[in-house]
Amino acid sequence: MDSRAPELFGWEFSADPYPAYAWLREHAPVHKTRLPSGMAAWLVTRYDDARRALADARLSKNPQRHSPAAHQLGRVGIPGERSANVMTHLLNIDPPDHTRLRRLVSKAFTPRRVAAFEPRVRELAGRLADGFATRGSADLIEEFAFPLPVYAICDLLGVPGEDQDDFRRWAGMMLHGAGRRGAVGRSVKRMRAYLGDLIHRKRVTGELGEDLISGLIRASDHGEQLTEEEAASMAFILLFAGFETTVNLIGNGMLALLRNPRELARMREALTTGDEALVASGLEELLRYDGPVEVATWRFAVEPLTLGGQRVERGDPVLVVLAAADRDPARFEAPDLLDLGRRDNPHLGYGHGIHYCLGAPLARLEGRVAIGTLLRRLPDVRLAVDPDDLRWRGGLIMRGLRSLPVEFAPARMT
Ligand code: HEM
Repeated sequence: MDSRAPELFGWEFSADPYPAYAWLREHAPVHKTRLPSGMAAWLVTRYDDARRALADARLSKNPQRHSPAAHQLGRVGIPGERSANVMTHLLNIDPPDHTRLRRLVSKAFTPRRVAAFEPRVRELAGRLADGFATRGSADLIEEFAFPLPVYAICDLLGVPGEDQDDFRRWAGMMLHGAGRRGAVGRSVKRMRAYLGDLIHRKRVTGELGEDLISGLIRASDHGEQLTEEEAASMAFILLFAGFETTVNLIGNGMLALLRNPRELARMREALTTGDEALVASGLEELLRYDGPVEVATWRFAVEPLTLGGQRVERGDPVLVVLAAADRDPARFEAPDLLDLGRRDNPHLGYGHGIHYCLGAPLARLEGRVAIGTLLRRLPDVRLAVDPDDLRWRGGLIMRGLRSLPVEFAPARMT
């Protein structure tokens, strides 16, 4: 461990981790650190190393095989996943299991199903904006970025409307309970139990619809289908992987725009004139500049290997720091600059390799609709606090704000 390394955890770091990552990229690009949980792990911060590591089959995703003790203690992985029985999900497994399950889930979670969902996401976003547009102020996390993906994914999965507020409560605990693994674990258990019951009921009654859970039940590959257990784990991981990420895409993205008025004006103009290309490249740039996933999920070396000139031993945990890789000046021109029209932008915000984000089409849809709705409905939106007073949640994997207070001219009641 390099004793000169900057502080990597705590409030100040969370507020702006980029200078510390720049130091690591330059001086210790594959750096062993001790995490607040007590675990030691390698942090990979250069773009080329990160991209290589994400696609390296010698880095396994299965903590049960490679770090059973840490997993048992809940130091790696999703809190409560062992006891809630959500082990067999895409982010925890390697080929050939991963290949089989990803193919099955992809059959249900198709770009067509996502595209057909756009009117519903628009309606949800519009309804949430109605809740504060006439007020002149709002917390965009609590009132918009948080509920939007919860209701969207519930609808997409086929969770009945009357049960969706339970999900909002459980999801709220996941979001606000960072650092309280026990409380988060209990919410994970409740969600998993609910999804298990829903799948069982749909399967037994045969009442299958156009929703994603029905799709998961129906999906088959060469006559092979998901077991109820696998389908419930998959439904859970879609919810889990797609919820906080989207909250942070909207939150971090809006903050980046509000702090860069020229780029904000550019995005507004693109939305007004229907410049879809700039809206699309702008969303990718927001992901690169301050994306929701700061660090990719846990990986473990299955054999000794060399990464960025550093020897990594068998069993060592490796964390790929996407936020650092995506600001690497060796790959991106002027990486600390937000440029919505950036052309050469192969960012790693959605990962890379076989675990590349399965929900990217949905995330792009939600991001576009959410930011478009906010900028249209709140024409002069601005931060209501000093940026230095904003608080970040400070988890290991995700990067997101606790709240985003904004002000704007209240819309007239109609
Ligand atoms: C802006 C929003 C999102 C971002 C930035 C994001 C980012 C990522 C990243 C970086 C990974 C790879 C993790 C790794 O290799 O360690 C990933 C995987 C995944 N994401 Fe997303 N995600 C987003 C939204 C979503 C949504 C909306 C869903 C689904 C509803 C989703 C479902 C998944 C799943 C299932 C995986 C695992 C894929 C696999 O292991 O094969 N994500 N995501």
